[in-house]
Amino acid sequence: MRKFLSSIVGQVFIQSIVVAVALASLYYWSVQRDARKQASEQANSIIQVAEAVRNDMATKWSLGIFSQQEMKEWAAQGKKDHILASVPIVAAWKSALGASQGDKLKVKTPKFNPRNPDNEPDPIEASVLKEFAADPTLKEKYVHDKDLNAVRFFRPIRLTNDCMLCHGSPTLSEQYWGNKDGLDGTGYRMENLKEGDLHGAFEIIKDLTDSQKAATYSAGQGLIVLFAIIGLMLSGIFWVLRKKIIRPISQCVQAIEKFSQGDLTVSFPTGTTGEVGVLQGAMRTMQTKLRSILQSIDRYSENLAGASVELATTAKHLHENAASTKQTTATVSAATVCNRWLTQRPRFKNRY
Ligand code: HEC
Repeated sequence: MRKFLSSIVGQVFIQSIVVAVALASLYYWSVQRDARKQASEQANSIIQVAEAVRNDMATKWSLGIFSQQEMKEWAAQGKKDHILASVPIVAAWKSALGASQGDKLKVKTPKFNPRNPDNEPDPIEASVLKEFAADPTLKEKYVHDKDLNAVRFFRPIRLTNDCMLCHGSPTLSEQYWGNKDGLDGTGYRMENLKEGDLHGAFEIIKDLTDSQKAATYSAGQGLIVLFAIIGLMLSGIFWVLRKKIIRPISQCVQAIEKFSQGDLTVSFPTGTTGEVGVLQGAMRTMQTKLRSILQSIDRYSENLAGASVELATTAKHLHENAASTKQTTATVSAATVCNRWLTQRPRFKNRY
């Protein structure tokens, strides 16, 4: 196993697995992110419907289709449902609910100290409401609720002039609704709010289970295609590796082993192109050069052997010569003495 992992094929295999896993996680993550994005876009469009309805209701109020006088009469007659039907936020909420039918969506209008206890904010809603209160420029907020496995999309609700009828100053309750108790026509206590005040938020909760299932399914299909492509690529790479690198290199190794054991005639492989081809060429050059070096060494040693025989003969001659030279020297030195004696003789002659 370790041998396989440290081989070229093993290394390529490991690298490919790493790349494949990285690609697959990236793909899975992006599909999931798209699912969340799609959910938030859907939520956004529903909120836009709701806001459009709210604005439409506000326009109806300003056109006098609903009037405060009429409300007062409905209140007196106890027609709360009529009043509620004309409440902009209620109409908006109902239309959002209608638009979200079948999409596993939940519509909420969370608010601190709400009229409707269902609107009491949970921790996520409370923190978003606080953010909206702190930053009036914040127009929307998107939260991925991991516990609910849902996308929660928020838009702040700010009061307009027409909302003051019911959410404005309680001192006006008598003027608007004919009661001195600070209650609006629906019987709730008016909150003494002003135009532009933050009054809760619109919220769409989109469950992600279904879209995640769909995303996982399509990611699964995508991954099958991805792995098929990677598998094809790998087999192509392995084929090229075997043909172009692994086989020629192991042939080279076998040849080198024979060569190193003294078989100088071994034939080095040929026929591969590319880097391994260059290696094969270099091997053959090395073989030719080594052979010629060894051959010339051979020649030199033969010459050397001849030379040493000659040397031995010369030495013998020399030895013999030396003996005769010694004799000659003795003769020569005797002759020289005689000669000197003869040449110097006149002087002796003078003396004698
Ligand atoms: C005719 C009276 C009336 C008017 C006008 C009115 N509301 Fe309300 N509002 C109500 C009532 C009643 C409720 C409680 C509804 C319920 O029980 O779910 C309510 C609830 C709300 C809520 C949900 C939070 C809560 O307290 O439960 C928001 C948000 C809201 N109104 C915003 C507005 C805005 C914005 C306007 C102006 C565009 C407006 N309302 C105009 C009567 C009114």
